[in-house]
Amino acid sequence: MNKQECIQRTADYVKMLLEHDTSGHDWWHIKRVRRLSLMLATQEGADPFIVEMAALLHDIADEKIAGSEEKGMATVRAWLTQLPLSTDEIEQIIEAISTVSYKGGHGKKPLTQEGMVVQDADRLDALGAIGIARTFMYAGSRGHSMYDPAIPVRETMTKEEYRYGRSTALHHFYEKLLKLKDLMNTKSARKLAMERHRFMEQFLQQFYREWDGHDEDVN
Ligand code: ADP
Ligand code: NI
Repeated sequence: MNKQECIQRTADYVKMLLEHDTSGHDWWHIKRVRRLSLMLATQEGADPFIVEMAALLHDIADEKIAGSEEKGMATVRAWLTQLPLSTDEIEQIIEAISTVSYKGGHGKKPLTQEGMVVQDADRLDALGAIGIARTFMYAGSRGHSMYDPAIPVRETMTKEEYRYGRSTALHHFYEKLLKLKDLMNTKSARKLAMERHRFMEQFLQQFYREWDGHDEDVN
């Protein structure tokens, strides 16, 4: 089995696992992250095989899908071990995947080039028009409303507030999405992120305009 076949087999496997997901981790998200990752890998000089494999498998290890990160990583490792890969390749792929879910801020070891690229691609897919759409899908799947002026928009929410469904889709923009442009690892991703960020700002501006009826006096 050559590298291309390893990729194809992995793509089929992930597609089977995520095809029916409705929480924003569907197969199309994986396809976009795969494409973005490969584009960034070329621009940043990361290993395209490690990057493509890590992009394909990055959400299998997500605790929202696997139950826990340990379980998810075990699934990924089991999958990789039965492919004809060297120990070194397996470790590089695992390392890159663990970067993606890394929340940042608690002083872990420096990221590999491949990890940085896939993390940037995953974050880019949370931005722009697609990012907006995914946010509302996710909020809907959790029973959150899209906006509630009674809930102040704050950057952090307590566990209690989440439990009582006091998060809204709009909340997520302030809590995470608008911060992502400053968290990109690579120059190429930062440039794309700026564009997608601007689009989200325009969206929010228009959302509040319509909500408050400020666009209604034009006729
Ligand atoms: P990924 O790592 O693939 O970005 P996440 O599990 O972090 O996946 O989120 C899936 C999608 O749902 C992303 O687009 C994310 O921005 C969005 N999302 C995550 N948490 C919330 C939330 N509390 N409210 C609304 N959208 C959310
Ligand atoms: Ni993802």
